[in-house]
Amino acid sequence: MSRDIEIAQVGIQFHQRGETVIALEDVSLSIPKGSYTEIIGPSCCGKSTLLRLIADILAPSSGKITIGGSPPAEARRDHAIGFVFQQPTLLPWRNIRQNVALPLDVVGRTSHRRSDRTPDQLLELVGLGKFARSLPAELSGGMQQRAAIARALVLQPDVLLLDEPFGALDEITRQKMNLELLRIWTECRTTALLVTHSIAEAVFMSDEVVVMSPRPGRITARIAIPLPRPRSLAMMRDPAFTVAVNQVREALFGDEAETLPGGEAY
Ligand SMILES: Nc1ncnc2c1ncn2[C@@H]1O[C@H](COP(=O)(O)OP(=O)(O)O)[C@@H](O)[C@H]1O
Ligand SMILES: [Mg+2]
Repeated sequence: MSRDIEIAQVGIQFHQRGETVIALEDVSLSIPKGSYTEIIGPSCCGKSTLLRLIADILAPSSGKITIGGSPPAEARRDHAIGFVFQQPTLLPWRNIRQNVALPLDVVGRTSHRRSDRTPDQLLELVGLGKFARSLPAELSGGMQQRAAIARALVLQPDVLLLDEPFGALDEITRQKMNLELLRIWTECRTTALLVTHSIAEAVFMSDEVVVMSPRPGRITARIAIPLPRPRSLAMMRDPAFTVAVNQVREALFGDEAETLPGGEAY
């Protein structure tokens, strides 16, 4: 199952040490159900804040968000939202299977409405079948993040939110993890929304790339990616890939884009 996400004229302000920070202003975005979207923008432009608003971790100061027609609070109560943070945030004293099963323990296995994949099936899906009994500290950063993804999927969310999930990983591991994530998303068909810092990654992964401006964060461009699926690394040589990368760079940097090196992370 998947749900669409509707964001209508959303704004949020924070009060820090007597000052008001407008983190997001007039953000509107429609994300179709079952789609894969990446958000890119400069540091502190409100990307994490936007994800937290969708996940009902924060409430907007103005505007409205709905997930499959319901307010985020309802979607959260319904366990329709999975969240993967930048750090894996696994409990160090629980083994990997126990970490992945944690949401089931919290919700109560029998009260859960869906016929879930078991934690063991999810561990297979994310390539950690052999590590069910390992402790988090025994796994690499990439493996821990896979476990965090499995945990986010255990209640079969309709919406999966990932906040720079591979930001702490090296380039090669990131690329592997991205391919894995696409495979997992293809199997689960949840609506996926991921925050990234890499232009090339955003284009490679997404149906649509959403570009945000510096604070106060606004959406400045939405770029549809015409590459077919399943995606393969060879598509990075496709002219359509280069065109889309340039569109995103232009949206991010405007005229400055000409003088910046590479199309990779900035
Ligand atoms: N809980 C909070 N309290 C106060 N200010 C916050 C809070 N969360 C975020 N901010 C501020 O809002 C802005 C956007 O933050 P964030 O969404 O984390 O940006 P990004 O993820 O794009 O780097 C920043 O200026 C940050 O300091
Ligand atoms: Mg952030």
